[in-house]
Amino acid sequence: MHTCSAPGKIILFGEHAVVFGKPALAMAVDLRIQSSARVSDQYSVNGRPMRAKHHAYISAAMDEAWNGPPLSITTRSGLPSSSGLGSSAAVTVATVGAILAEKGEFEYESVARKSFEVEYAVQRRASPTDTSTSTHGHGVLVSPDKEDGFLWRIEKGSKSWNVHHCDVKRLTFVAGYTGVHASTASLVEKVRNYVTSDSDGRKTIDRIGEIVMEGRDALVAADRPKLGMLMRENQELLRELGVGHPSIDNLIEACKDKCYGEKLTGAGGGGSIVALTDDPEAVCGAISAAGGRPMVITVGGRGVVLEQ
Ligand code: MEV
Repeated sequence: MHTCSAPGKIILFGEHAVVFGKPALAMAVDLRIQSSARVSDQYSVNGRPMRAKHHAYISAAMDEAWNGPPLSITTRSGLPSSSGLGSSAAVTVATVGAILAEKGEFEYESVARKSFEVEYAVQRRASPTDTSTSTHGHGVLVSPDKEDGFLWRIEKGSKSWNVHHCDVKRLTFVAGYTGVHASTASLVEKVRNYVTSDSDGRKTIDRIGEIVMEGRDALVAADRPKLGMLMRENQELLRELGVGHPSIDNLIEACKDKCYGEKLTGAGGGGSIVALTDDPEAVCGAISAAGGRPMVITVGGRGVVLEQ
C-alpha cells in the first residue's frame, strides 16, 4: 500500500484567463487530502465499489496511471469540496501519486502531467494550474513564456503552459467559503462562450494576463497595497467574465474595509473568496457574520508528499 497527501490551492490572480493560455499565479494552502492505494480483489473507493460517475477523478486517475489488478483507494479530506480551494486537484494529485508509487514510478513531473490529463478528461477543459500547484506546492506561476524557476511545460492541443516555482512571502490570507457549490466545467464553458464570441471578453482576459505579471512582481516585493489593488481589479474583470455570484459579493462587501484586497478564487459562481489582510481575526468575524465559513490559511507549503 502507498499513501500520498496533496494540498489545495488558492489562485491569487489569473483564473479562467489561464485556460486561454494567459498566465496565472497560485499558491499551495495548508489544507490537504490524503489518498492510499492498495491492490485488492475489486475496484473500490472508501470501502464501496468504485463508480465512474460518483468517483470521477479517482476513476479517471486509474484510467490514466494504472493498468494492473484492481485497486482499493481510501481518501481522507481536510478540504471542503467544490469550494474553489482545489479539492478536485488535491484528490487527483494524491491519488495519482499513490498509484504511481504502487507501481514504483512516483516522480513529481509525472504526477503533474498525469494529474492534468485526469482533470482535463473530467472537466473537458482545464489548465494545469491547480494540479501543478498541488504537485509542486510553494507558489506556482503558469505562463506562456519561459521564466526563471522553470519546472515543466504542459501542452494540450494548440495550448501550452510553462510551469514555474515562485517564492511565497509571509502574507496572511483568509479564505471565506460561501457554501455555494459550483461546477468548474460549466463555468469554464460559460467563459469560453463569452470570450470566443465577444471582443470585450478577449480584452478582459488580456488585462487579467497583465495583472498576473504585475502581481508576480508585487508578490516578490511583498507589496501588500499593490497586491490588494490588483486583486480588486482582477475581481472586477472576473465579474465581467460572468463568474461572479451574489454570495461572493456578500462576503467581499463584509470584509473589504479590513483588507488590502479580496477576490473570488478558483472557478467562481460561489465557492470561496480570498482576502489579504493584517487582521485575520477581524476578517474571520466579518465573514462569519455575513454567513460565510472563514479559514485563516497559510500559503506556500509542501506539494504532494509520499508518506511513509
Ligand atoms: C479553477 O480552479 C481554475 C480555472 O482557471 C480552471 C483551470 O485553470 O483549469 C477556472
